[in-house]
Amino acid sequence: MPITIKSAEDIEGMRVAGRLASEVLDMLTPHVRPGITTDELDALAHKHITEVQGGIPAPLHYAPAGYTPYPKSICTSVNHQVCHGIPNDRPLKNGDIVNIDVTVIKDGWHGDTSRMYLVGEGSIAAKRLCQLTYEAMWRGIEKVKPGVRLGDIGHAIQTFTERQGYSVVREFCGHGIGRRFHEEPQVLHYGRPGTLEELVPGMTFTIEPMVNAGRREIKELGDGWTIVTKDRSLSAQWEHTVLVTETGYEVLTVSAGSPKAPQALAAATA
Ligand code: MF3
Ligand code: CO
Ligand code: CO
Repeated sequence: MPITIKSAEDIEGMRVAGRLASEVLDMLTPHVRPGITTDELDALAHKHITEVQGGIPAPLHYAPAGYTPYPKSICTSVNHQVCHGIPNDRPLKNGDIVNIDVTVIKDGWHGDTSRMYLVGEGSIAAKRLCQLTYEAMWRGIEKVKPGVRLGDIGHAIQTFTERQGYSVVREFCGHGIGRRFHEEPQVLHYGRPGTLEELVPGMTFTIEPMVNAGRREIKELGDGWTIVTKDRSLSAQWEHTVLVTETGYEVLTVSAGSPKAPQALAAATA
């Protein structure tokens, strides 16, 4: 399947789906506290998406080739879990970090976004990892405009991350998104400038770097979904769905509660 180019009407649908996905994260934010289980967060998200938003949680029963159907409506990846963590009945505890990844389907369009949450008081190391990963995502987003290549995005994320002694996970990447959850192209979070696909207006894809405090190697747990760091170091991830516009980018997964773009970047690009 080639890369799909979205029309003005398609983009309107993608904006709605993106905003709804981000609003699920806004809704969950006050609930992410010590004592709540990730199953409870999943139930809150499921109810909000289906009953308030009139949408569909894309992860539920999602079954790409080679995978068993995903059993829940969101992904919750705690501490050394890298991605695709399955909600369960263990309470979150003070000092945990958790990535919550939400994908909403509305009128056939997908919006995919994730954020990091500190449970209670996070350690300095945890805060630093989450902040750095957020900035890494933005280094990628800020590159997006027609004529730029996917390798430029990956390179910006990789150099920023590795310069500070952290590692980028290679096995999972961002992806085209639209009427399908995962479309072409693959958006690698590492790479060489000037390589790979050239961006053109109307492309929509995610940027979702996974950054480890230790080594980049990962492994899959026996549940067939959960990915963890091999060395059990902490891992963080942030995700936005973005549109390539005529002049640059538009982040589609925005809502009233979206964290602002990092200060340092604003200063660096002023
Ligand atoms: N939301 C994830 C992504 O960013 C994909 C999760 S697949 C699931 O691409 F089945 F685990 F939900
Ligand atoms: Co995604
Ligand atoms: Co996602």
